[in-house]
Amino acid sequence: MENLKGRIVLFGATSGIASAVAARLASLGEALILIGRDGAALEAQARALESAHGRKPACLAWDVLDFAGHADRFRQLEAMPAAREGGIQGVFFAAGILFPQDECDRDPDKTRLTIETNLTGPAMILDLFAGHFRRRGSGWISCVSSVAGDRGRGKVLAYAAAKAGLSAYLAGLRHRLVGTGVFVQTVKPGFVRTRMTKGVESRLMAEPEKVAQEIVSALRKRREVLYTPGIWRWIMLIIRWIPSPVFRRMKL
Ligand SMILES: NC(=O)c1ccc[n+]([C@@H]2O[C@H](COP(=O)([O-])OP(=O)(O)OC[C@H]3O[C@@H](n4cnc5c(N)ncnc54)[C@H](OP(=O)(O)O)[C@@H]3O)[C@@H](O)[C@H]2O)c1
Repeated sequence: MENLKGRIVLFGATSGIASAVAARLASLGEALILIGRDGAALEAQARALESAHGRKPACLAWDVLDFAGHADRFRQLEAMPAAREGGIQGVFFAAGILFPQDECDRDPDKTRLTIETNLTGPAMILDLFAGHFRRRGSGWISCVSSVAGDRGRGKVLAYAAAKAGLSAYLAGLRHRLVGTGVFVQTVKPGFVRTRMTKGVESRLMAEPEKVAQEIVSALRKRREVLYTPGIWRWIMLIIRWIPSPVFRRMKL
């Protein structure tokens, strides 16, 4: 980010967390490309960012679940005038989905959608960005996983399994890209007030603006794994060490 030129791509740009990251980056003068599945929502978001910060982001509609179309969409992105002038400096990936586990229990299709949206799609898409940055010899990938992926969870079984896979994918990508000039960051938020946590009450609930500020700051410092807010680093340290028989009784 520091002194780097080129556009920053936000994938899942309409998400509560990515919207706050987009606003923060735009306020810092960064040029953006917004990607999401809803073209009209992206356009509205781009207009709002333009009126607040004076520069209109470019937009591209792209569905994480369109597996057969990812390569074509990526070529479309590379061909966009916004991406060609100065290139793409990095991608922030935040698309994701969470169903209550009892819905997954009743409908196996929701388990499939959870794994495909939170793991299969992101891995396929980030492979394309990784290849692009690797060929160029520079770039960064920051992807939102979750603290939920740090331990098998009965309450959010499919979601936690997908996020565990995503965290492992990102760690592996980081290893694979050593020495290529490409930086990979894993972001692990705790509870953040967005559409995804509507109806959830927790004293640990954080505002997306705070999380966005920590993400952008961690990107600048090139921190590989970010727990946000920071207290989750210590909470998860304890949670990972709780013996399984005790953890099961906690019904988390
Ligand atoms: N909120 C939390 O407490 C929390 C905690 C830990 C991790 N996270 C993770 O943070 C990320 C952002 O979540 P959020 O809380 O900001 O949630 P959110 O506001 O509900 O946003 C979810 C985003 O994912 C997009 N999306 C879902 N399915 C998609 C698909 N098939 N193709 C393209 N985009 C798709 C949604 O697009 P539409 O706008 O079109 O629906 C939306 O932009 C997610 O990966 C989530 O798992 C959130």
